[in-house]
Amino acid sequence: MLTGSGLGYRRALATDLLSQPHDTPIHFIEAAPENWLKMGGILRHQFDQAAERYPLALHGLSLSLGGFAPLDFELLKQIKQMMQQYHTSFFSEHISFSQDNAHLYDLLPVPFTEDMVHHIAKRICQVQDFLGEKIAVENTSYYFHSPLAEMNEVQFLNAITQEADCYIHLDVNNIYVNAINHQLLPAKQFIDNVDKNRVKYIHIAGHNADNPQILIDTHGETVHENVWDLLDYAYAQLPQIPPTLLERDFHFPTFDELLNEVQHIENLQKKYKKEI
Ligand SMILES: [Fe+2]
Repeated sequence: MLTGSGLGYRRALATDLLSQPHDTPIHFIEAAPENWLKMGGILRHQFDQAAERYPLALHGLSLSLGGFAPLDFELLKQIKQMMQQYHTSFFSEHISFSQDNAHLYDLLPVPFTEDMVHHIAKRICQVQDFLGEKIAVENTSYYFHSPLAEMNEVQFLNAITQEADCYIHLDVNNIYVNAINHQLLPAKQFIDNVDKNRVKYIHIAGHNADNPQILIDTHGETVHENVWDLLDYAYAQLPQIPPTLLERDFHFPTFDELLNEVQHIENLQKKYKKEI
């Protein structure tokens, strides 16, 4: 079962993850199925050892829930097998579309319209029917706001997840980055209005702020103070404290620095004492 604070599994972190003491603040890991479906050798062996030690969350990159190409049921079959193999019932995806059929992992935004709500909700239902599990969908960072929008981002997220009866995977860094970049929906207002009973998982990450007007969601920096504050704000309002994962994909600092950030998540969770 996923609880507490976690760290994204990257091959560069494997040795440190496998040598953690028992009182580590890392209580679970997360991986993208697409990165591991075809992987073998020593890297796969390390991954399997890590997945043996830590509960595993699966976070997809390329289902393209907002796309118009048919869903990739071959990929879904492999994801289902992976969920069974690693005894995990948690799978989440992004509310976005990838370049159809290319699997380039570009997470492109979708217009916040009623039609897209129905389109994405229908595809989520297909995925859930196939997997036999409810999935969670994540709010993404986006850099172009469609003029076709008929609602704001949190209304869009709520409408999709209500129609599909699925969970919400809340990314607090993405909320913050979008709030600064678009000046359309203040970050705390997003949290105030999100359907809190559906929030089952949280991401926190760093972003690049070289240009303070255009923040870039890189997963390659330490978490910004304002994003920690937003996580604190979310925990204060949520009925339960969901498992929360630090995403760090490159520009790795020392492992101790990563541990400090994961520990920070755990400390905030303890502050609210609403463990699930
Ligand atoms: Fe994320």
